[in-house]
Amino acid sequence: MLRRMRILTGLQPSGKLHIGNYFGAMEPAVRLQDEGEAFYFIADYHAMTSMRDPVGLRENVRELAIDFLACGLDPARAVFFRQSAVPEVNELAWILSTVCPVSLLEKCHSYKDKVAKGIAATHGLFAYPVLMAADILLYDSNQVPVGKDQKQHLEVTRDIAVKLNEAFGEGTVVLPDPIIRDDTAVVIGLDGQKMSKSYHNTLPIFGEEKPLKKLLMKIPTDSTPVEAPKPTAGSTILALYKLFASPADYALMVADHERGGVGYGDFKKRLADAYWDFFAAMRARRAEITADPGYVDAVLTQGAARAREEAAKVLARVRRAVGLT
Ligand code: ADP
Ligand code: TRP
Repeated sequence: MLRRMRILTGLQPSGKLHIGNYFGAMEPAVRLQDEGEAFYFIADYHAMTSMRDPVGLRENVRELAIDFLACGLDPARAVFFRQSAVPEVNELAWILSTVCPVSLLEKCHSYKDKVAKGIAATHGLFAYPVLMAADILLYDSNQVPVGKDQKQHLEVTRDIAVKLNEAFGEGTVVLPDPIIRDDTAVVIGLDGQKMSKSYHNTLPIFGEEKPLKKLLMKIPTDSTPVEAPKPTAGSTILALYKLFASPADYALMVADHERGGVGYGDFKKRLADAYWDFFAAMRARRAEITADPGYVDAVLTQGAARAREEAAKVLARVRRAVGLT
């Protein structure tokens, strides 16, 4: 029987989500739910490589689950689970680690960058890509949508998969294809740089109205007088507005820049209103989900059961291939 294409991705529960995460990761994941069988998980084992705060980890996992569901993840269509609820992934990670050359991991930029930033150089951080390979291979994933920063990790996954298949037979694991989101999708932050929590320039998906509007009012602008035309190239206000406004409203704001006569304060206000409206339905959904604490647990429990079913099949095949059974 032909099975539907399997799409898998993981998100680290690393704090409040910003609109870069929304447009860069969640919105595309929500769209892909219709294109195949989606497996989405919260990478809590991975988060442990940079976080030692049990209360914070628990809270981040829950918040991410609520946010993802509020943003449109549909548990009737996608399998949604917590990584650590499928401990089989550790066994596969071990098996993969026995074919993964150390040199492959030594080349990983992400490891070097994190160590340079002061994150402890633990074995877990070093072996991060092996666990990620296990995440992907455990579900016979065909497509793995990720941001550009994860491209190298996907290459490591493929290298490991090839090595395992060479050692134990073709078809031991399925070779996945990365879907790398392109650079044009990068959302810029308040200061015009790429939005990232490391740059402290983020805008939240689900912030309170007043502080959010205050934040937007702080976008730096030049000193062009109200009457004069304003530059459109490199405008942070326009770049953000484009994410939220209809094409007609966006064109109007561009025209108002070119014509002059409208001040930056007005533009920021239009941006703030469009931003607030854009997330209105998701905010309402978020409030509903938060008011029903059992819902999130039920979704994740059900997702984990379904994921484990699949994981058990693949792990049984791998165990047999390598001689563990
Ligand atoms: P941060 O840079 O804030 O630490 P993460 O690295 O945790 O964000 O990113 C989680 C997901 O969100 C990744 O898939 C990443 O590609 C996406 N993402 C993060 N920031 C942006 C951005 N500014 N524009 C587009 N996508 C982004
Ligand atoms: N490393 C990914 C990130 O930081 C998260 C992740 C863990 C992941 N396992 C995965 C992504 C498997 C795709 C597939 O964004």
